[in-house]
Amino acid sequence: MKRLCFSRCSRFTRVLALLQIILGGFVILISITTLHRFYSTGLIPHMGSDPNDCSTFNTLTEGYADFDLKALSDRVEEVVTKLSDLQDKLEATVQKINKDKTKKNSNMTLTEFKRFLEEDVIPELYGAHIGLRLVRIPKSDNNYSTGSPKEDPLINFFTIEETRKYITAKNNREGKLSVYGTNKIYNTIGHACVVMRKELEEYMNYDVGSYCKDDWDLGQKLMLGGCDPLPRRRCLTRASKLYQRPLPINESLWSLPDNRNVRWSRYQCRDFKCLASRNLKRGFSKCTGCFEMEKEKLRWVRNSSSADFLISEVLAVKPGEIRIGLDVSVGTGSFAARMREWNVTIVSTSMNIGAPFSETIALRGLLPLYASLSQRLPFFDNTLDLIHTSVFLDGWVDLQLLDFILFDWDRVLRPGGLLWVDKFFCRRKDLDDYMYMFLQFRYKKHKWVVSFKSKDEVYLSALLEKPPRSL
Ligand SMILES: *[C@@H]1O[C@H](CO)[C@@H](O)[C@H](O)[C@H]1NC(C)=O
Ligand SMILES: *[C@@H]1O[C@H](CO)[C@@H](O)[C@H](O)[C@H]1NC(C)=O
Ligand SMILES: *[C@@H]1O[C@H](CO)[C@@H](O)[C@H](O)[C@H]1NC(C)=O
Ligand SMILES: *[C@@H]1O[C@H](CO)[C@@H](O)[C@H](O)[C@H]1NC(C)=O
Ligand SMILES: *[C@@H]1O[C@H](CO)[C@@H](O)[C@H](O)[C@H]1NC(C)=O
Repeated sequence: MKRLCFSRCSRFTRVLALLQIILGGFVILISITTLHRFYSTGLIPHMGSDPNDCSTFNTLTEGYADFDLKALSDRVEEVVTKLSDLQDKLEATVQKINKDKTKKNSNMTLTEFKRFLEEDVIPELYGAHIGLRLVRIPKSDNNYSTGSPKEDPLINFFTIEETRKYITAKNNREGKLSVYGTNKIYNTIGHACVVMRKELEEYMNYDVGSYCKDDWDLGQKLMLGGCDPLPRRRCLTRASKLYQRPLPINESLWSLPDNRNVRWSRYQCRDFKCLASRNLKRGFSKCTGCFEMEKEKLRWVRNSSSADFLISEVLAVKPGEIRIGLDVSVGTGSFAARMREWNVTIVSTSMNIGAPFSETIALRGLLPLYASLSQRLPFFDNTLDLIHTSVFLDGWVDLQLLDFILFDWDRVLRPGGLLWVDKFFCRRKDLDDYMYMFLQFRYKKHKWVVSFKSKDEVYLSALLEKPPRSL
């Protein structure tokens, strides 16, 4: 009878003990498979008598030098911790059951046991299982002379499978060469994505083919945090409910767009009227009057201050030669709209900081370039006729960052192209530093005006021409 009771009472105890044994086996298995994988990729030297083995190992270590072993070991560590936690939990449960048994007050019912397994044991095991599955060891290509790893070192860093798929290099089909003449294509992400791993995982967590979350603002946050370029996504971007046909081009250039063509949920304002108002809570500050078309219409066509150049004056410097350009500003595209009337095509950089700048530019019939300062401009060397900049880098920008940016602008500007610095403002005492930044390129000065904005602040406006660089 005692025996019978023992066998019955301890049924769960024994099941748990069995689980622990399985768990133990699991841990050993992990260790072995991990070791085995290292072994088979040659990370651990063969212990044979062949002295060549040693040299083989050496070449391999070099070959895998840039493979992120730390990420890999972190991942294994994570799994081991999970398993050890689970083991502790199981042991504690066994002890509890033993205690309860002596008290003879409570037996675990089958339902309780099921719940225990479902809530405490299975998810942990599943997590550990997935963690292990995610470990990727570079496949050995059995060609020690090439020596480069097959896997990108970053891949093990990310846990969301879609991110990992995205950054894995894609070999061309059937070994064909791509249009670029390469045999594989890398998708890129900004290196600060590593710093913003949590946000990136949220961003990349979607069902392939379904609707994306309404999270463009999360994407922008990532970009502004340096995760730029963002990974592409395979979900369907949301659009506003009732997208209206845009206005014809002869009207769209100087009209505010239809409110219904913008998704407003992430902005303080819910329509263009609010953006154009003097509402202090409209959500953006840098761009005073940007949504007031009557004011915008006056810019660059009417004399106001000596620091305001007119488009007609600027274009007269190079009649007929200025055809394409870039506007690096905070704005709604009015500069591009004006230039269009002069038959000049301008691309306007824009980020949606507090207001739908990109949509507004596009709905006006102009070209928004959704790009942050993190990236090299996507234009080839010596191609643009004009770069115009206003209210963007003013006064806050780090000088070394500005240096990189200006050298990039210099790169894309063609010889004879114009750099129009439009009312750059800064503190008076910083002016020399900034002036040096612009002057270091030895551009020809067509216009150069410094004027007071306030007692401590100054405006710098300049029209500079890139010299020929024949070497
Ligand atoms: C626990 O189970 C044993 C045997 O299955 C039984 O004899 C005992 O009465 C039960 N105790 C309680 C509190 O249900
Ligand atoms: C190994 O790589 C070298 C250099 O890339 C190449 O010449 C050789 O054919 C490769 N061998 C094999 C077996 O792929
Ligand atoms: C715009 O063009 C269309 C046809 O091309 C014309 O009917 C319409 O009146 C024009 N609108 C304005 C404001 O000029
Ligand atoms: C603007 O000012 C310049 C001189 O500063 C003058 O030559 C020009 O005629 C003025 N243009 C207009 C439209 O007032
Ligand atoms: C722009 O191009 C159109 C069509 O070629 C022409 O009629 C117009 O005069 C041009 N405008 C300017 C300011 O050059």
